Amino acid sequence: MSPPPIIRVDHLVKRYRKADRDAVADVSFDVAPGEFFSLLGPNGAGKTTTISILTTTLAPTGGTVTIDGHDLGTDAAGVRSSVGITFQTPSLDKNLSAEENVRLHAILYGLYPWRPSYTLMPGAYKKRLADLADVVGLGGDIFKPVRTFSGGMRRKLEVVRSLIHHPRVLFLDEPTTGLDPASRRDLWTYLLEMRQTADTTLFLTTHYLAEAEDAGRICVLSRGKIIALGTPTDVTASLLERYVLLGAADPAALRAELSAKGIAYTDDAPGSANVRVAADEGDVQPLLKSIDTPLTSVRTVLPTLEDAYLALVERDELGAREEAAGLGEAGIVLGDALGEGALVDAESREVIQ
Ligand SMILES: Nc1ncnc2c1ncn2[C@@H]1O[C@H](COP(=O)(O)OP(=O)(O)O)[C@@H](O)[C@H]1O
Ligand SMILES: [Mg+2]
Repeated sequence: MSPPPIIRVDHLVKRYRKADRDAVADVSFDVAPGEFFSLLGPNGAGKTTTISILTTTLAPTGGTVTIDGHDLGTDAAGVRSSVGITFQTPSLDKNLSAEENVRLHAILYGLYPWRPSYTLMPGAYKKRLADLADVVGLGGDIFKPVRTFSGGMRRKLEVVRSLIHHPRVLFLDEPTTGLDPASRRDLWTYLLEMRQTADTTLFLTTHYLAEAEDAGRICVLSRGKIIALGTPTDVTASLLERYVLLGAADPAALRAELSAKGIAYTDDAPGSANVRVAADEGDVQPLLKSIDTPLTSVRTVLPTLEDAYLALVERDELGAREEAAGLGEAGIVLGDALGEGALVDAESREVIQ
């Protein structure tokens, strides 16, 4: 039996004052304890609004949210004790030291009574701080002023701060935006390790699709609505087909043979000699065996999550534009347009050359 979800979002709605549409429009999903869940979507999709509601900094217009057994409507303090958050916009006090930023937060959370200096803080606080600073690699820098910190160090400090009260769920709103690749990798090494050791649930929003590839499930929002929800593999597969790209010295003979054998194909591009045949992993070998025309090149093309995501968002936005223009039935027009164009940038893997 699977454990009850740690996050339960049911028919969540948020309409900002004076807005003419819902920023979050009837969204429902569950997250399992220890899951790595990623909320994706273009700017303005409603990600930050959703996270703000789930972390009690914004009141919903409708719907219910339960986190770690605490109902948001009746027990916001309970929710707050179960969650940690790193905000999209940095929220550190640059004039304080890193440790002072963390201490202030711990005191605001009611973890410890206020103490005017680090030395007067309880041992438990000192140990937790040292442990966290160590894992993210801040070490002794923890007593330096935040003003002297690089962007990467500030992000790591925010993570330390968000974890000081042992939250069961960590919300990360675009935590790696603006970080250089090395800092981004370091932060992720730490986050994934922490997820395993402390069984922390990770709730991430990001614009880097590669970060979401590691998620157990992704949820794609567009204009406040869920347009896809599932494992990265399932979402990708449901949108884009894997295919094999075949080239032959005699392209006409290859086409004739495929037609004669009832194997569906499309031209790789208008006027291209190469053809595409849809094929899942296990279909490649039988397909190649069944072809007698000598092949000069074979390449399997695997769409990535990024390809699928872009196709999905493009389709949704096109649908919205056509709806606005009063055309309706947009889904049909675009179902065709999408498959082709979306695969252009697909990552490809050489099999035989
Ligand atoms: N404080 C606010 N007041 C009014 N509208 C807002 C406010 N914050 C966000 N919005 C609007 O709500 C929608 C969702 O925004 P947001 O949740 O920030 O999206 P995301 O984080 O996915 O980029 C957008 O249309 C945005 O303009
Ligand atoms: Mg945002």
